[in-house]
Amino acid sequence: MALSFLRLVFSLLMVLMVFQGVCVMFYYTRNTHSPRDGTADRLQQVRCTKLRHKFAIIKPAKSIQLQRFTQELSDFMSCPYQSNTTERELNRMRLQYLCNATGSLFLTKQNTAINQTIPYEKSTAKTYKMNAAIHGMLPEDFPWSGRRLGRCAVVGSGGILKNSSCGREIDSADYVIRFNLASINDSDVGLKTDLITINPSQIRFKNLDKNPEPLVERVSVYGNAFLIMPAFAYTFCTGQSIKTLRVLHPIRPQQPVVFFSPTYLRALDRFWKGRGLKEVRLSTGFMLISTALELCEDVHVYGFWPFGTDLHNNSVPYHYYDELSPHRYMHSMPEEFVRLLQLHSKGALTLHLQPCS
Ligand SMILES: *[C@@H]1O[C@H](CO)[C@@H](O)[C@H](O)[C@H]1NC(C)=O
Ligand SMILES: *[C@@H]1O[C@H](CO)[C@@H](O)[C@H](O)[C@H]1NC(C)=O
Ligand SMILES: *[C@@H]1O[C@H](CO)[C@@H](O)[C@H](O)[C@H]1NC(C)=O
Ligand SMILES: *[C@@H]1O[C@H](CO)[C@@H](O)[C@H](O)[C@H]1NC(C)=O
Ligand SMILES: *[C@@H]1O[C@H](CO)[C@@H](O)[C@H](O)[C@H]1NC(C)=O
Ligand SMILES: *[C@@H]1O[C@H](CO)[C@@H](O)[C@H](O)[C@H]1NC(C)=O
Repeated sequence: MALSFLRLVFSLLMVLMVFQGVCVMFYYTRNTHSPRDGTADRLQQVRCTKLRHKFAIIKPAKSIQLQRFTQELSDFMSCPYQSNTTERELNRMRLQYLCNATGSLFLTKQNTAINQTIPYEKSTAKTYKMNAAIHGMLPEDFPWSGRRLGRCAVVGSGGILKNSSCGREIDSADYVIRFNLASINDSDVGLKTDLITINPSQIRFKNLDKNPEPLVERVSVYGNAFLIMPAFAYTFCTGQSIKTLRVLHPIRPQQPVVFFSPTYLRALDRFWKGRGLKEVRLSTGFMLISTALELCEDVHVYGFWPFGTDLHNNSVPYHYYDELSPHRYMHSMPEEFVRLLQLHSKGALTLHLQPCS
């Protein structure tokens, strides 16, 4: 019933558009643009509006199969992007008020005191007492203090970046965020890096104190980017994180090692749980996209695609920098991705899923 009504409305719309097309043809026979283009454009606009609405309210259900969405998602990604300043400012205000990346993304001398008790994000029974030596190695303040970052690129490690030619576009951003010491490459992912995460499990260098060279070599690829570690997520993260800070601080003072504030990450967790995200822990990628929504004027997201095939049914490696096979999530719509899709549809950020031109 509802369907046939929709069909009727759609046919009426078609008739109207064709009719308009005929009038246009009558008056503008010499126009180089075919009137059919106008009709097609308008049909395309209607379809884009429909898809935008659909993806803005798409339900995050684990059982949704990607295959059912591929064609529509592919069409939607070809639609012109519509930014929404109101939506952006609302997200920024909510995030700043409830989470405050601006003043608490990581520990600084400003927001942390000597002897302060630092809670753990997940190992909630434990705390860490900030001593003077570590405090002395914390950064003075945030590089963005008092200003808003402009265009930010948040670059995930998804295999869709392979052969994407997005390097130049990413490098033209004002601020670039990357993850897990991912390799950089001028053609596909770009080289510019302002903030990059390190997972404590990646610090597997032997005799780090006596032989820091391999670690120094590994991180100096990223120039003066801030290296951010989840030192106070779980108790087992603390040792390697503090060691990394101790080793790199004297050798590369221009490249600060910083620690996520567990209070910030907890607030972010509450923020998204309150909005229906039920995961045990948000991915670091999703955390820093949220950070960017607060700190940046304009957020561009690359390399976030948790599926084993792309929009054209070509198989996609899990990461752009290795040949690992796709993740177990490949046939469902992971919750975080659904959120990104919603944010894109509402004009709050730009999700890049196709090669750059
Ligand atoms: C922009 O976002 C606001 C807040 O969510 C919403 O009320 C408004 O309708 C949106 N504007 C457009 C053009 O979609
Ligand atoms: C954010 O944190 C900074 C530093 O701790 C503080 O000065 C500021 O008032 C906080 N802002 C909000 C909105 O809570
Ligand atoms: C930190 O605590 C130690 C003893 O626990 C004390 O000697 C020191 O003065 C304290 N430092 C500050 C800055 O409060
Ligand atoms: C850069 O990316 C291209 C395409 O993905 C690849 O062929 C090339 O080996 C990469 N170079 C480096 C240095 O990773
Ligand atoms: C990337 O391009 C290379 C060379 O054209 C090709 O061999 C490879 O299959 C492509 N990889 C992906 C994931 O598209
Ligand atoms: C995608 O490719 C797989 C095998 O590679 C095939 O079985 C499937 O039918 C294809 N799906 C579409 C929508 O083309």
